[in-house]
Order: sequence, then C-alpha cells, then structure tokens
Amino acid sequence: VKRVTTHILQEMKNRGEKIAMLTAYDYSMAKVVDEGGVDIILVGDSASMVMAGHETTLPITLDQMIYHAASVIRGTTRALVIVDLPFGSYQGNSKEALNSAIRIMKESGAHGVKLEGGIEIAESIERIVAAGIPVMGHLGLTPQSIYKFGTYTVRAKEEAEAEKLKTDIKRIEAAGCFSVVLEKIPALLAKEVSESIQIPTIGIGAGQYCNGQVLVVNDMIGLTKGFTPRFLRQYLDLYNQINGAVQSYVKDVKAGGFPNEKEQY
Ligand code: KIV
Ligand code: NA
Repeated sequence: VKRVTTHILQEMKNRGEKIAMLTAYDYSMAKVVDEGGVDIILVGDSASMVMAGHETTLPITLDQMIYHAASVIRGTTRALVIVDLPFGSYQGNSKEALNSAIRIMKESGAHGVKLEGGIEIAESIERIVAAGIPVMGHLGLTPQSIYKFGTYTVRAKEEAEAEKLKTDIKRIEAAGCFSVVLEKIPALLAKEVSESIQIPTIGIGAGQYCNGQVLVVNDMIGLTKGFTPRFLRQYLDLYNQINGAVQSYVKDVKAGGFPNEKEQY
C-alpha cells in the first residue's frame, strides 16, 4: 500500500478532496483506524487525558509520546503519522524544538510533528522544516495553553483574536507548515483562513469549510463517557457496549458458566 504523503494532502486540497484524520495512541487502535482509510493518524498529546487520565495535556512527556508514536507506527501501512510535540519540549527555544522533533522522528519512526502556536514558534517551525521534518501547525483553541485561556470554550469570536489568528496562520504557512489544525473557532473564520492560505486546514469544532476534519478516536467511538460537545459526532456507543460485555463476563464467571466444556483442554 502506498503511504499518504504531505504532497498528496496538498493535491487533495487543490482538487477539493476532504482530508480525514483521527487520533490513535496504541498499536491495536492504529491498525483498525489505518485499515478504515484515514489519511492522517495523529498521535495527539490528548493521550495525556484519554490514555493516562490526566486533567490536561500538560503532564505527558516526550518519552511517553515517543512510546505511543512507536506503537502507532507499527500498526500502520497507509496513513501519514503525525506526532504532537508535548508541552515543555519546544517552547524554550528553536534548538530545543528541533532536538525534540528529531527525537520523535528517530525513536518512533513517525512522519512529522505538530506544534501549537503562531508567530511565537515560527522560528522553531522554520528550523524543524529546514531539517527535513514535516510540521503541522495548530491554532485556535490550543490546549497546552489552557491555563492562559481559563476555559475550553470557542476561541477567536472577538475581532482582535480573529485578526491575530489570521496573522499567525500566514506566518506559520510562510515558516513551512504543510498543514494546520484549527480547533474550536467559528466556521466562517475557518472558511476565510482556509481560503487565504495554500496549505490544507484540518478542523475540530471549526465547521464544514475546513479542508479536512479530525476527532479524538476515543470520543468518536463513544468511549469517553460524558464528553458530548456540539462538534463531536459519536459513531458508536462503545462505553456502554463494553460495560455490558464486562457485566456478562462477570455474571458468567460467578455462575460457573465460563468456561464451558468446549472452552477448555
Ligand atoms: O491532541 C490531540 O488529539 C489534538 C487534536 C484534537 C487535534 O491535538
Ligand atoms: Na494535541
């Protein structure tokens, strides 16, 4: 199978074909998501919440991201695999950012990295791209800055923040990003910026005009109980299905009904 490339993603935007992206954090999920036909798998730092149970994305480490990324890579043949640089691994300076990106590429076998932010990280993006590493940007709601924002509500509703986003997206495109995630911004702002740049935009809670869409896989299969923001479409109700399966198993074991004669040696 031919692996999706950043060039293929650019061609998809050019001919108006939408890009489908999902997260994955482990081998088993990456395999089923890859075979399902997504174009990009994101090893998101949402692993901090979804896999490790932290309240925010801040605690996850570079070593932990590399472990998740290497597992995901082993489960894929088709999707382009992009890995989040975690909080604290790139904000210091562009040399630190480059070193972190190189570690991810060498130690996991991933195909590119994602960084949150605009003008303030443009130099780091330039340096990573100059080393031959594809970089995806991330603007709008950037969860690594949650303690600056204070809430996970929609970003860039006010003129000043919308203007900053328009400037930031031009700057990170110029720095060499091959694509950019837009998280939780008004659909019409996402439309305007998607049309103002060449590279594809991938939205989450950013409306129908983005060049592609991304969701956290555990959310879209209904495994994260009680998380139901407006932008989330749940394609399965896995939490309740697994809960039911576990209850049946416990019942069978307690009743002596598992294993039966055919299930033993
Ligand atoms: O970490 C993550 O899952 C992400 C996506 C929501 C874009 O950054
Ligand atoms: Na992320």
